[in-house]
Amino acid sequence: MERTFKVLRFDPEKDKKPYLQEYEVPVRDGMTVLEGLFYIQRRLDPSLAFRFSCRGSVCGSCAMNINGRNRLGCETQVSSLKGVIKARPLGHFKVLRDLVVDLDDFWEKYKRVRPYLIPSSPPPEKERLQSPEERGRIGDTIDCILCANCHGSCAVTGTDSEYLGPAALLKTDRFLRDSRDGAGDERLRTVDGVHGVWRCHTILNCQDVCPKELSPTSSIMDMRKKVLKKRESDGS
Ligand code: FES
Repeated sequence: MERTFKVLRFDPEKDKKPYLQEYEVPVRDGMTVLEGLFYIQRRLDPSLAFRFSCRGSVCGSCAMNINGRNRLGCETQVSSLKGVIKARPLGHFKVLRDLVVDLDDFWEKYKRVRPYLIPSSPPPEKERLQSPEERGRIGDTIDCILCANCHGSCAVTGTDSEYLGPAALLKTDRFLRDSRDGAGDERLRTVDGVHGVWRCHTILNCQDVCPKELSPTSSIMDMRKKVLKKRESDGS
């Protein structure tokens, strides 16, 4: 059986604008959209560009818009999609070529929130221990694979280029919840602003497209409470 794939093509060196190119792909049980793209690249059109690495929903590289929704190509079964399979690059990013987007802005926002442990005490001899309860407070916020599906689907990142975005804000929450981290006040200052937690419109696109079923919106709401509490304690 064959399925029709329509893939957005764009080579800035020769195309004036993007266009959808159609391919017929033989499919089998269990085939993913990423495997369909491999077939196209290897058998029909070696010029097709797309990102991938793990092929197991771990690295986040294959994030793209499939039939109108941001998903991971490697975990989206062809059989789960009706009609023509349309693959486009993530929205809100500059297209470098075909399905490959420029993620520099995403990484710049991510770096801005300092996405690593900043302890307030010198390193212990062995390791920084954490009780099961303390680990429990971090919850699943640690599961983010940085695919950028959320950033590419958020209505605010599309209109406010300075907005930190759901992934960077989720990461901030992850470290605010970590008993080993000592930079809580600084982190709250970073996200307290018109381009931080107060900019979210709670449209929930981010949690809708997250392949790990995380909720950046809930993290943002939690951080709003923390920011207000901090302002109150500071008397500001
Ligand atoms: Fe790694 Fe899809 S290739 S998540």
